[in-house]
Amino acid sequence: MGTVTNKHLLDIETLEKCDIEHLLAKGQEFSESLANDTWDKERLKGRVLINMFFENSTRTRTSFEMAAYRLGASIINWDASSSSISKGETFSDTLQCVAGYNPDGIIVRHSEFKAPYTVKALVNCPVINAGDSWRAHPSQALLDALTLIQEKGKLEGLTVAICGDVFHSRVASDNIHLLHKMGTKIHVIAPEMLMPQKLPYEGIKTFTSMEEGLPECDAVMMLRNQKERMEDSDIPDDTEYFNSFGLTQQRLQLAKPDCIVMHPAPMNRGVEIADDVADDPYKSVIFKQMANGLPMRMAILDTYIK
Ligand code: NCD
Repeated sequence: MGTVTNKHLLDIETLEKCDIEHLLAKGQEFSESLANDTWDKERLKGRVLINMFFENSTRTRTSFEMAAYRLGASIINWDASSSSISKGETFSDTLQCVAGYNPDGIIVRHSEFKAPYTVKALVNCPVINAGDSWRAHPSQALLDALTLIQEKGKLEGLTVAICGDVFHSRVASDNIHLLHKMGTKIHVIAPEMLMPQKLPYEGIKTFTSMEEGLPECDAVMMLRNQKERMEDSDIPDDTEYFNSFGLTQQRLQLAKPDCIVMHPAPMNRGVEIADDVADDPYKSVIFKQMANGLPMRMAILDTYIK
């Protein structure tokens, strides 16, 4: 059962450090119990959840769905494209309709700023943010932290580089909140036009070149260019971008010798990351991160769904 401060998982910003520790410890427990086939498969028996994704998703949606089934809950995959949203129904009317069926939890992804806060005000069940706008993606930041702990044994004292389109990335945003709260040093590396104008905390170092930002790093998190959130004229040329900011084996050598490579995916190979880095059997933990989506989201459902 959960012992977190809030009823909903809306973002990392509003979590206390003890909430993050609780969720990560539970994520680790599920990671082990999945490996040993020993978790409580009926923990959420009889509960009905709804996945409401207003934006595309592979990993987040599938792993929340899988997590629900693994805990014995049922889950409805509500599909925006085949819903009455396409007939002009408002977000609020759709939500009030769904709320009338009394689900036990709603998992929502939406392009609007703070959309899960709007959902929370319209429904009577826990709301879990599966990504809103460029602002928040708490379950991704948590599974990234779980992966870092499994690889490095800790978060405090590590130096982590977050590289690329930091300006438009909700993954970067919630990772910055989480890593800062847990005492990790952060290097933000981005071209000037993809660098946030303001960062939420003092002490985060910013760099406009990989060569300057990578030394000393224990982990490097690469990001996709979020072209869907850019004006056409601002979209960088893929080849030029790769030449300046792509993570190659050569650039990776500037970081600590045991530096690990992370990416929330989807990856654009040959744009922000070279193929041989993405597939490096020793340094890349990208597919491990994806797999950790399951235990981490089981921990989230276990904590928030009553
Ligand atoms: C990210 C997202 O949707 O924010 N993907 C994910 O959830 N793993 C990152 C992205 O789209 O680049």
